[in-house]
Amino acid sequence: MNEQIVLLDFGSQYTQVIARRIRECRVYSTIVPYDTPAAKIDALSPSGLILSGGPSSVYDPNAPMPDAGIFELGIPILGICYGVQLLAHFLGGRVEPGQKREYGKGTLQVTDPSCLLFRKLPETLTVWNSHGDRLSRLPRGFVSVARTENSDYAAIEHHARRFLGLQFHPEVAHTPRGREVLANFVHEICGCGRTWTMRNYIDQAVEEVRRQVGDERVILGLSGGVDSSVAAALLHRAVGDRLTCIFVNNGLLRAREPEVVREVFGRHFQIRLRCVEASRQFLRRLRGVTEPERKRKIIGRTFIEVFSDATRRVGPARFLAQGTLYPDVIESIPIAGNPAALIKSHHNVGGLPKKMRFELVEPLKCLFKDEVRQLGKALGLPDAIVHRQPFPGPGLAVRILGEVTGPRLQILRQADAIVVEEIKRHGWYYRLWQSFAVLLPVRSVGVMGDERTYDYTIAIRAVESQDGMTADWVRLPHDLLERLSSRIINEVKGVNRCVFDITSKPPGTIEWE
Ligand code: XMP
Repeated sequence: MNEQIVLLDFGSQYTQVIARRIRECRVYSTIVPYDTPAAKIDALSPSGLILSGGPSSVYDPNAPMPDAGIFELGIPILGICYGVQLLAHFLGGRVEPGQKREYGKGTLQVTDPSCLLFRKLPETLTVWNSHGDRLSRLPRGFVSVARTENSDYAAIEHHARRFLGLQFHPEVAHTPRGREVLANFVHEICGCGRTWTMRNYIDQAVEEVRRQVGDERVILGLSGGVDSSVAAALLHRAVGDRLTCIFVNNGLLRAREPEVVREVFGRHFQIRLRCVEASRQFLRRLRGVTEPERKRKIIGRTFIEVFSDATRRVGPARFLAQGTLYPDVIESIPIAGNPAALIKSHHNVGGLPKKMRFELVEPLKCLFKDEVRQLGKALGLPDAIVHRQPFPGPGLAVRILGEVTGPRLQILRQADAIVVEEIKRHGWYYRLWQSFAVLLPVRSVGVMGDERTYDYTIAIRAVESQDGMTADWVRLPHDLLERLSSRIINEVKGVNRCVFDITSKPPGTIEWE
């Protein structure tokens, strides 16, 4: 089993960020609900615990409290923000409601450089604060090891018990040396090595899949996206020909997508691949439909039908593999005021049929997205797949406003291919969350040569985002925009106007629908 750090989630929007930072130190980390019993945590044999921040005050009647037994496990504990107030609350210090919220940048002065948390760091650090309550008296045995303008207890330590607390957030980018603080906690204080790498993970995951699957067969719905592609490559390594991938062409894919999937998975990896050509079926059912939710429902239902049918043709299989990721399986914490609990992912790629009687194999379910990409690379998948931008399950149907028809799909596919090609050529593709074309089904007047035209408009969308929940439009250079516009209008028949979307999310969404 991996050495690991267990994170107790008190509802901070940054809990997953902390977990990722720890893993970037090559130490495995797991997030558990704040009230997980100490015995259950002990059973995981963690090398250390982190108590996350959270929106609550320890004074709230419903404040989330951990099992007091965690302080008796004999392992190091790091409390961050709300976590440090819990240390004080449980171990006999005092927390006072702050007069005003301390929010924003601060300067940390390390007063005890022998504290291992600040090993090899300067004595003055820029840190990011965001808290209401503050410590006013230290619990017994604790000393202050750093202060800020507003607090003498910005970092505290109980040396013998290896309990530490930070009032600031080391996990966010606004604390530039925060990663090193966390690295010191896991390596210097918890004594963890650097063993969590995707190369090691492959061996472990392959063994686990083999143990689960035995001699049985596995089916996987391959979309060509990062997650299902990496899952396919991993499973293929584990069970070889006992894996069959099913790729459904729903007619709503981007240019050359079916060919790329065939090339990479069929020819290169020699994976057993069934490509199902269902474009007509999808298009027939979408005929005359303009309402976005209805389009989505029709596409979802049709996919399930087509996929179920394809699985029957493949023959008996006991397992269905899915590229579920860690953020989908972390139990979200219903704490009042926790926005992270409310904005749970609103769509699940593919939405594979629950009623189909398969047992699930989910070899990526403890990985974050960036780890999945690293794993894909380690398994030999090309960058074009490992670093591709997200593409919605309902495909181009959500990027054609109004009715989806064959001719409109052809126009959008061509325009989109130009956007992708130029954005790549100008070195922007891998820096963006998404960049794509949208077809607006209204016609406007234009002139081309001596002729009057009456054609569609293409909107170009380019956004930056961490997770798709919020996004900012990207200031693409004017010469790139000009190139996009002139190529699209010249090369794509049926388009005479290009616009660039300058809406962020919120208030807009990324897709237009
Ligand atoms: P919105 O448009 O809601 O999109 O701002 C946020 C992110 O989710 C993607 N998206 C989807 N992904 N199935 C998916 O797998 C869907 O039905 C779906 N709808 C939107 C979108 O591309 C963006 O990255």
